[in-house]
Amino acid sequence: MYNGNVNINICDHPLVKHKITILRKKDTGTNEFRSIVEEIAMLLGYEALRDLDLEDVEVETPIETAMCPVIAGKKPAIVPILRAGLGMVSGLLKLMPAAKVGHIGLYRDEETFEPHEYYCKLPTAIDQRKIFVVDPMLATGGSAIAAIDFIKQRGGKDITFLCVIAAPVGLEKLAEAHPDVKIFVGNLDRELNERAYICPGLGDAGDRIFGTK
Ligand code: PRP
Ligand code: URA
Repeated sequence: MYNGNVNINICDHPLVKHKITILRKKDTGTNEFRSIVEEIAMLLGYEALRDLDLEDVEVETPIETAMCPVIAGKKPAIVPILRAGLGMVSGLLKLMPAAKVGHIGLYRDEETFEPHEYYCKLPTAIDQRKIFVVDPMLATGGSAIAAIDFIKQRGGKDITFLCVIAAPVGLEKLAEAHPDVKIFVGNLDRELNERAYICPGLGDAGDRIFGTK
């Protein structure tokens, strides 16, 4: 819970905090950065999936026949915001191997910080799915808000957003724009700088995941 908002979950798990510290170090290389983003996505996903529906099915154990729970309910879709969100997909797929994956391409204008869409392809029957939008960084909030706008315009309803690091301003803007969306954050950082980068942050997540500059 954050500011009394039950839809906002800021992770307090020591493993996540430790892994985010490794991501922050400027000397952490691409290979390690990628695998830690994947691990954090899995840990955040574990929390975000806590409210999945279950149904009982009959199972023959070596001892007896028993009614045992399996996951039921809506089919999942994972939607990374390109590029950096791609780094979180494999972690969530480990938890939900049958999930469909959509993609939303957005880039932030370097001067206005406004998001621009260049690609959007979502799984079929998006209105009936449990949707997990992923992006490591929530800075001004513009990209996440725009991505969720697109998904809602295409019928998406049950939406959860996962990020590794958020800035307070972006988190508050996202929660205000989409009060129905559940938000899972690895760490809430201090602030944005004049270039709308998160401080202390980890730099440009896309460049660090893909080894570009
Ligand atoms: C980064 C990040 C988010 C966005 C966050 O992407 O991955 O999508 O910035 O900033 P915001 O909250 O202010 O919108 P970027 O636009 O740099 O694109 P990239 O992933 O292709 O590098
Ligand atoms: N996007 C990033 O990749 N990093 C930031 O700090 C802000 C936006």
